[in-house]
This record gives sequence, C-alpha cells and structure tokens, in this order.
Amino acid sequence: MKVLLIGSGGREHAMALALRRSARLEHLFIAPGNPGTSLLGDNVQIDVTDHQAVVDFCRVMGVGLVVVGPEAPLVAGLVDDLENAGIPAFGPSKAAAQLEGSKGFTKDLCREFHIPTGDYQRFSDRDAALAYVRQLGAPIVVKADGLAAGKGVIVAMSLSDAEAAIDMIFGGAFGAAGAEVVVEEFLEGEEASFFAICDGTRALAFGAAQDHKRVLDGDLGPNTGGMGAYSPAPVMTDEVVAQVMAQIIEPTLKGMAARGTPFKGVLFAGLMIGPQGPQLIEFNARFGDPETQVLLPRLQTDFLDLLLGAATGHLPNGPVRFSDETALTVVMAAKGYPDQPERGTEIRGVERAEGLPGVIVTHAGTAKDGQRLIANGGRVLNLTGLGASVVEAQSRAYAGVDAIDWPGGFCRRDIGWRAVKR
Ligand code: AMP
Ligand code: GLY
Repeated sequence: MKVLLIGSGGREHAMALALRRSARLEHLFIAPGNPGTSLLGDNVQIDVTDHQAVVDFCRVMGVGLVVVGPEAPLVAGLVDDLENAGIPAFGPSKAAAQLEGSKGFTKDLCREFHIPTGDYQRFSDRDAALAYVRQLGAPIVVKADGLAAGKGVIVAMSLSDAEAAIDMIFGGAFGAAGAEVVVEEFLEGEEASFFAICDGTRALAFGAAQDHKRVLDGDLGPNTGGMGAYSPAPVMTDEVVAQVMAQIIEPTLKGMAARGTPFKGVLFAGLMIGPQGPQLIEFNARFGDPETQVLLPRLQTDFLDLLLGAATGHLPNGPVRFSDETALTVVMAAKGYPDQPERGTEIRGVERAEGLPGVIVTHAGTAKDGQRLIANGGRVLNLTGLGASVVEAQSRAYAGVDAIDWPGGFCRRDIGWRAVKR
C-alpha cells in the first residue's frame, strides 16, 4: 500500500519509522516531511491547506491511505474532503476534531456523558468571567476556547493572575481562538498522556507516556510543546488504564457516535491522576509530540494495520502489543525557544549519535543548507534512548545528546526524573 503522511515534526519522523516496519507498506510519501523523513520515503511539497491538491496527488499516485499528523488539517476538514473523494484517511472529521478544537465542546460532552473532569463554566463575556473567578478564587485555570498553539492555558495561582488571563484572552491575544473562555477547577495529581486508537465505534488502548512541558530543569519556566517524554508511564497501572478506558474513552466514543459525529483516529487524553482516580484535563485528536517518539519504538503490532483499520471502521482485534522496554526522548531545542528560537545554526554529530547502542534520532525543525544540517524551528532534534529500565533509557538518550555538536541548541538534563525517583 502507498501511504501519504502529513506533517514535518519529530512525531511524523517517528510515525514514518514505524510505518516502514510494516510489510504492507509499498511506498511512503511525506508532505512536507523533514531531512529525517527524506531517508524513509519521498518528501513532497504539496500545499496541505489546498485539499483538492491533496486529493489530486493521491489519485495520481494511487495512495491508499492518508495519515494526518498535526491538528490544523484535521480541524480544517482535510479528512472529510479525502473521504468524500473515496480516499481512506486516518484522523477525525472536522466535526469530531472539535474534541481538540474547542475546549468548551469537550467540557460539555463530559458533562453530558458523565466523564470525570474538573468543574467549569464557559464565557463569552469578560465581566461575567471576572465575576466567576472572583467568586471561586485561586488556584483556578483559565483557557482560551480554541486552538492557541499550546499557549492558551493559564494555570492561575492567584486571583490577579486569573483576572489578567481573562483580560488578555478577551483582549484578543489569541484572536478568534479567544472569543470564548473556559474557566475550570484546578486539578491536583500527576499528569499522564494516554492514547486510544478509535474506528468510530471501538477503541484500543495504545499506551501511555509522560511529557515534560516546562522549558527548564525542575519543571520551571514557560510551557512548551514538550521537552521530553518517556514510556511506559509508571503512574498508568493496569487498573488506571482500565478506569480510563471505561470512564473516559468509551463514553466519549459513545457520546460522539450518538451525536452523529463518530470519532475515528487517535484520541489523546491529557489526564490528571489524583486521589479520586483519573480525570480528563483535555483531549487532543492526534498523536502527541514528543510522546509518539517514545510510544512507537516500543510498538510490536503492525502500525499500518492499526491506522488503516481505524480509518476504514474495522480496527483489528486487540490488544495492541508493546515491548517491555522503556523509551525516553530528550528534545533538543534552538536557543531562545519557546519565545524566539534562533534559526540557521549548524548541527553536527547526528550520524555519530545514531551509531550508539539503543539510540534513535528523529528530526523535527531541521533543514538542509547544501550538505550542512541547520536548525529551522523551535524544537529541532529528538534523541531517544531504549533500555531495560528508565535509568538505562535515560543514560542512552543523554549519550546521544552528548554526541551532538550543536552550540546553538539546548535541552533539559532531567527528563524522566519522576520515574527515576520511583
Ligand atoms: P492543556 O493545553 O489543556 O493540556 O494545558 C496545559 C497544561 O496546563 C496541562 O498540561 C496542565 O499541566 C495544566 N492544566 C490544564 N488544565 C488544568 C487543570 N484543570 N488543573 C490543573 N492543571 C491544568
Ligand atoms: N506533548 C503534548 C502534545 O503533543 O500536545
């Protein structure tokens, strides 16, 4: 089968590696891809916002499955347009992608179908939102309703921070994504990322990971897209996974189907595991980055079979199998990330890192400048270590980091600290 994978990050490089392990894969195209994916298939320059251009490409090339990595094309309805043209696509429809596209939509679904999550209210009026936070007090969480590149969430530890967040969002800091605000209860516990592959009616548990969202060691500094991750996540015991499937994933699938917008693709639940069991923080409608870089190297089930089964409404029978190894990814970012990443600095040593035992390098924001590899984004390179324990995976990942010669980059030095401490 010929597959077109959409995206250009470390997540998509990891997905390309997993697809290449499938015996059924005939050819892989990646749009637009990155220097890492160019070694696994053909990077193609199609404008993915032009859905007709994607359909035409698939028809000409005989593509049998399109796999959508990031959220923007999902929310824009790319999967709907591909399916209308008769081309199977992995990912939710525009209507079902509202689970990621609108925080208020997801909270209302939770309320209707009794899915455990923090209490909340939706506001389209600044004064009403201010009155509500003054009534509840801090800590409290203020969110822009729509997609805001991970920046639309303010965990306010004081009332004045909450008020400032409401002013900022209604003041237009996130454009249309901030036309509505969700104010919600502050949840305490340990966070985990959980994934389930869904075909509209059935879901298969697809493992868990823990991410490190803050830019600096010790979980300090501003939030980022994710500075590192590891899998499995010790907090996600078999019992917690069973609770998440029964209380969060399955009711969501039933609710979405009952509303006439069945969810196909991967449901990524951001969870808080606290004293009352798992609660939903938010859904994403795609794989996580960097969580995918630690899940897929452990995957033993054929990835293409799973994605095609989800896309066509016929998931294979479970369970999905993973190796017992631990995978740990360290994200190397360009200096200045997340505010003003410096572009154009040269990166050396990738081949040396790839030659180390148990080390996988995935590219994210890299580019080629002639023969030189340069930084061309915020999160640039991912070093993944595989090992029998989290300590071994961590030491391998950092051996990979140390083989990279990139004065323009930096990384956290404590990825995996929580699991190591256990
Ligand atoms: P989100 O973009 O919704 O994943 O939120 C970003 C981060 O904010 C999450 O990973 C949590 O660390 C934090 N967060 C979001 N909502 C809550 C909440 N209700 N209680 C505590 N922390 C939260
Ligand atoms: N690492 C979090 C995300 O992909 O949203």
